[in-house]
Amino acid sequence: MIAVNDLRKTYDTGTITVEALRGISFNIDQGEFVAIMGASGSGKSTLMNLLGLLDVPTAGSYILNHKEVSALEEKDYARIRNQEIGFVFQTFNLLPHLTALHNVELPMMYAGIKLSARRARATMLLERVGLIDRMHHYPNELSGGQNQRVAIARAIANNPAIILADEPTGALDSITSLEVMSVFQQLNRDGATIIIVTHEESIARHAGRILRLSDGLLIADDKVEPPIDAGETLNCLRKGAISI
Ligand SMILES: Nc1ncnc2c1ncn2[C@@H]1O[C@H](COP(=O)(O)OP(=O)(O)O)[C@@H](O)[C@H]1O
Ligand SMILES: [Mg+2]
Repeated sequence: MIAVNDLRKTYDTGTITVEALRGISFNIDQGEFVAIMGASGSGKSTLMNLLGLLDVPTAGSYILNHKEVSALEEKDYARIRNQEIGFVFQTFNLLPHLTALHNVELPMMYAGIKLSARRARATMLLERVGLIDRMHHYPNELSGGQNQRVAIARAIANNPAIILADEPTGALDSITSLEVMSVFQQLNRDGATIIIVTHEESIARHAGRILRLSDGLLIADDKVEPPIDAGETLNCLRKGAISI
């Protein structure tokens, strides 16, 4: 699904140049759940921006769904971003003047889906992330974890092949983080390919594989066996069997 070969990104600000990625290669298969880890400044967000077509590499190859991305035209980028990739951000990036329902409908509106169909799908997606009773609430009426679940519902609105999440639990407490990881794990079990960036090993261990970056290079590619089940952890917490 994703094949990255000798990917490089250099930022040139005029006064300084930063080699944020210095030649990275890996493949990700359909249905994988991958965590990207690394210290601050190691190039995680740069890599996610390239994978998500939010930025272009300086050199190297990126094949997404059998297509070489550098061969695409600008107009293809927007369509792929809207229909093939779902984004989740640390700060949710929901539109404050729209309800949860309307935030989830938005990408479907841009994809040209008519109102009745997108309303039905947005409602179904909010039910799936456990927020059916909050669908008419605005972001400032929801908790961080609830907003992130709205953002996940929005990310999967157009049924993307890939979900990219840059520090999706970075602004959340540990229980809420588990709730969000549980949603990602359910989506992954239903077939979604998911790539998340995280600082925290305990979050990364919910994925099946951890890619580790250091100073713009890939230094490790570890299988997680078995991944932690976030739903099970939440159940144990509720029963008081463990505490965190
Ligand atoms: N737009 C930019 N312009 C210049 N340098 C940048 C830009 N974005 C990131 N960098 C630099 O590239 C390096 C990697 O940054 P980033 O990918 O954001 O790392 P991470 O997400 O792992 O913290 C850092 O040295 C950072 O300062
Ligand atoms: Mg970052």
